[in-house]
Amino acid sequence: EKGDFEHYMLKEIYEQPKAIEDSFRGRMNASGGWIKMGGITEYSARIANAERFVITACGTSWHSGLLGEYIIEDLARVPVEVEYASEFRYRNPIVRESDFVIAISQSGETADTLAAIELAKERQALVYGICNVIGSSIARATHAGSYTHAGPEIGVASTKAFSTQVSILILIALQIAQSKGAIPQSKLRQILYELESVPNKIREVLKLDDQIREIAAVYKDAKNFLYLGRGYNYPVAMEGALKLKEISYIHAEGYPAAEMKHGPIALIDEEMPVVFLATNVSAYEKIVSNIQEVKARKGKVIAVVNEGDTQIKAMADHCIEVPQVDEVISPLVTIVPLQLLAYHIAIMRGCNVDQPRNLAKSVTVE
Ligand code: F6R
Repeated sequence: EKGDFEHYMLKEIYEQPKAIEDSFRGRMNASGGWIKMGGITEYSARIANAERFVITACGTSWHSGLLGEYIIEDLARVPVEVEYASEFRYRNPIVRESDFVIAISQSGETADTLAAIELAKERQALVYGICNVIGSSIARATHAGSYTHAGPEIGVASTKAFSTQVSILILIALQIAQSKGAIPQSKLRQILYELESVPNKIREVLKLDDQIREIAAVYKDAKNFLYLGRGYNYPVAMEGALKLKEISYIHAEGYPAAEMKHGPIALIDEEMPVVFLATNVSAYEKIVSNIQEVKARKGKVIAVVNEGDTQIKAMADHCIEVPQVDEVISPLVTIVPLQLLAYHIAIMRGCNVDQPRNLAKSVTVE
């Protein structure tokens, strides 16, 4: 079943272009300029009148939820809050009938996420599921939803589920933005065209596997890793750090790059690898100065940059060049080298990447 791949995780990383294509199938068309997510259409009036969106999830799915906040607020101009399901269910949150709650779960069986959904339903909110497993408990408990269609994810570390969740969130944001008139049709079409071509861009990134393996060999014995990004790359930094810690058992933290100087900068010395997500066009100069701050303290910099970058290349110890895409879409591209980096480091440390210690594929107990 693993085919040519030694591990499910690697297979699933490589399946991402196809998984994303499958998640788009029948749901959008760039030349036609349309998006059609059935569940969103079905509840369009209630969604259009929603005062705010609440996204709830755990783990990697929470990271795609955080991206969802950035994407939906940016494109559709609706206020969004993102909640760990385990906190949401127990903290007596304010949930109203006018809220639109989106629950994200690969397995559709995560106990805390399911409980958060029940709470939202009790308070009369409309609840939407983004699940991978067809017919799962969360898919059944929600009023409507969209399947990610990533196909079975066997590796415990979530990869293609994450990228398809993000793809679905982009489509949901675009459909709502379009129906609200919050986005010019030309911008919408541009993003749709870029989405259609993103699977091929990811195929380009997968060709960097050997280069990433070489970088992994340099840092496989590190005790700590820091991942930094701004804007859309901040949730990606957290997701990259989670991938590394769960399969390689190296301590890693993802942080907004500008928060570094409020604490984590104290950790930086010549032993500390810092992975920068530096593909942002809007905040480029700010990231350059964050990298300078790390280099001034002799930290090791691994930077994910856009193809053709020169400025960061001159400063970083290693640069991974990825194709440039619209920032809204960029997480689909920038997460891939981080998944591969975590995978190779874990393999070099002799870890069981598909079944890391202490972890289960679906967390059905709280
Ligand atoms: C990380 C990972 C976990 C899950 C989390 C939620 O790689 O797999 O953090 O993302 O347990 O699981 P789902 O999405 O099934 O609700």
